[in-house]
Amino acid sequence: MYKIALLSGDGIGPEITAEAKKVLEAAGKVFDIKFEFTPALIGGCAYEKYSKPLPDETIKIARSSDAVLLGAVGDWKYDTLAPELRPERALLGIRKELNLYANLRPVVIFDELISSSALKPEIIRGTDIVIVRELTGDVYFGTPKGIEVRVDENGNGVRYGYNNMIYSENEIERIAHVAFKTARSRRKKLCSVDKANVLDVSRLWREIMIDISKQYPDVELSHMYVDNAAMQLIANPLQFDTIVTGNIFGDILSDEASMISGSLGLLPSASMSDDGSVALYEPIHGSAPDLKGLNVANPIATILSAAMMMKYSFKNNEAYDLIFNAVKSVLKDGYRTKDIFKDGDKLVSTSEMGDVICDAVLNF
Ligand code: IPM
Ligand code: MG
Repeated sequence: MYKIALLSGDGIGPEITAEAKKVLEAAGKVFDIKFEFTPALIGGCAYEKYSKPLPDETIKIARSSDAVLLGAVGDWKYDTLAPELRPERALLGIRKELNLYANLRPVVIFDELISSSALKPEIIRGTDIVIVRELTGDVYFGTPKGIEVRVDENGNGVRYGYNNMIYSENEIERIAHVAFKTARSRRKKLCSVDKANVLDVSRLWREIMIDISKQYPDVELSHMYVDNAAMQLIANPLQFDTIVTGNIFGDILSDEASMISGSLGLLPSASMSDDGSVALYEPIHGSAPDLKGLNVANPIATILSAAMMMKYSFKNNEAYDLIFNAVKSVLKDGYRTKDIFKDGDKLVSTSEMGDVICDAVLNF
């Protein structure tokens, strides 16, 4: 039996995690695995109840679980809260608390959805990339940071806002190992994305990537500046196998890469620490407050995140394949949520999409 902390969060979070839970349970039937789900609050809903977005109880539940399934956090109504009370802070908080420094964001294009992408079919067909994003460092967590008044030469107070883009060599080394191992299990090409032509932190990043590459002679390492990478990703995504990059560059590039696949609602992610520690699985998209409660959100990114849980936390590649292929087959059968719907498709709601995927899992 596996214990899963269910952190549904805000907005569409509860709807999409409910579908992922259903699909996990269906896969559980096939593989004779039992799951015990323990719900816990995170984000705005936690703030409502405990006046903080990441209650200790939630961390405790996450720590004592075998894996964490997270929906999404955030709502416009919290935009005016102090930074430390905002829902997004909970996401950063739990990543830090569980030391989830390695975030894997696979970008694959389902043939069935090629026409949903804004990009030309011949450019994107066959795209299969994993973005390895460092998740607990960089400008997200660096200090000093803040907004403060400084007095200029004329004696006037001027407000400054600042963050610190900082990485220690240890932080770069450990993400490098994850990235090289990921590339090794794939097509053995690793592209490290940085801004080493301008930033010192990137110079260190690149130096260490080169150092660590000596331990992985079978993996071909290349480097790309982040601005160029942003362009290359949509100009020629097929050139990429595994990408490794820092927290903020990875955040931006993964949203960009989701447009290759046609919708932000399709991309899953796994956030991991050292072997044997609890990992967290969540879609890369946000809480979409405008879609909340409408039963229209696309649950596929969360369902595929659950599939990644089967693979990475429970070492069950068969269950991963089963869920992945079930998603593929329902897309082939023409089922589409609103975000990927085109004339002639079968329009389904969030829960109907979950249902047809469950059916496919059970009847494969
Ligand atoms: C993501 C999100 C988060 C991030 C936000 C919501 C804090 O954009 O997971 O990509 O920036 O990491
Ligand atoms: Mg993001």
